[in-house]
Amino acid sequence: MDKSMKVAVIGAGTMGSGIAQVAAQAGHSVQLFDTRVDAVTKALDALNKTFSKLVEKGKLSADEAKTTLGRISPCIDLKELARCGLVIEAIVEDLSIKKKLFTDLEAILAKDAALATNTSSLSVTAIAGACATPERVIVLHFFNPAPLLPLVEVVPGIATGEGLPAHCMELMKAWGKTPVLCKDTPGFIVNRVARPFYGEALRIYEEGLADMVTIDHAMRSVGGFKMGPFELMDLIGNDINFAVTKSVFEAFFFDPRYRPSITQQRQVESGRLGRKSGRGYYVHTDGAVQPAPKNDLQLLEDICWRILVMLINEAVDALNLGIASRDDLDLAMTKGVNYPKGLLRWADEKGLAHCLSTLERLQAEYGEDRYRPSPLLRRMVRESRTFH
Ligand code: NAI
Repeated sequence: MDKSMKVAVIGAGTMGSGIAQVAAQAGHSVQLFDTRVDAVTKALDALNKTFSKLVEKGKLSADEAKTTLGRISPCIDLKELARCGLVIEAIVEDLSIKKKLFTDLEAILAKDAALATNTSSLSVTAIAGACATPERVIVLHFFNPAPLLPLVEVVPGIATGEGLPAHCMELMKAWGKTPVLCKDTPGFIVNRVARPFYGEALRIYEEGLADMVTIDHAMRSVGGFKMGPFELMDLIGNDINFAVTKSVFEAFFFDPRYRPSITQQRQVESGRLGRKSGRGYYVHTDGAVQPAPKNDLQLLEDICWRILVMLINEAVDALNLGIASRDDLDLAMTKGVNYPKGLLRWADEKGLAHCLSTLERLQAEYGEDRYRPSPLLRRMVRESRTFH
């Protein structure tokens, strides 16, 4: 997998156009395909504008921009992809449509070409299940915006060939990305481990312990997060965030730990989607005045700790289940969603016994499985160990 390898990107939407840009910037010639021809034209126009801006800002020379853009060409028939060594699929999130595309591609590509999917919520094992050569199918999960966010989750399925994950990790490094290796489980690392950031914040709000502004303020001022949960949900879009939560909850056979929130459902039902609809948890119109947070330090610390300890428990449990390594779990959260610290490192700093006793207290108080401590956390405390 070197620069001479041709790359194909299928789906010229938000993710596909970003991935095409990343591959072209890494020196590959890229063919971009979409069932809607105008989507490819639009993506190429947008890439033109992006590169002009990079030149204006002095981040690229005009020559470099021209050469890089020249590497991306539209493709109007999948058959043109016969010489590609890697295809990255970023089409609609629908299992049967993805399966059909992958089987069509198998008939066109050379036997040793790799087939990657950028799926967020589907199982790569399920997609590969439709293929005659499942050993060449893998997830390369980029984050939005792909050219800016360094993290890529590399996820082999049950039947993925032995050498492919390592090849993909190397390739992603060569593309200037930070790859992490992860098992094929719902939400991979980031979309699983980050769930309590939203879920526990919504729970605290629903219990009336604090208002949204105060919860956001707690996470920023005490936790050092760039954005609070409600601000972030408004940025992501409540419809998208709610859909991810629902899909993880269903995929885990309704484990109460991932239960979606009625508050968020109501936001979606009322069209309060966030920034994109002008109103979410906050009002996003010009001149809107946001309410002031409460400045009670004890309250802020309690809010932040309750959300943080739930995040820590999620990361510890992912480690316990072998979803990813200690270092990859910490990298994923700092590089994919900009957390100020890796959660396992944070757990060490806070003290594992303190994490465990907080979770036990919450579990006893609420009587809910939602707060059950990971068995690994109990074991680590018993053996007086730390993660790092
Ligand atoms: P999008 O809706 O912006 O783009 C999808 C594109 O695929 C559209 O242009 C559509 O015409 C095209 N398409 C649909 N069916 C096709 C087919 N059979 N063959 C070729 N092209 C087809 O979607 P977006 O947001 O770019 O998502 C694409 C994939 O990436 C999904 O699997 C999604 O779950 C995943 N993803 C999305 C992220 C995001 O933040 N938007 C982040 C990471 C992954």
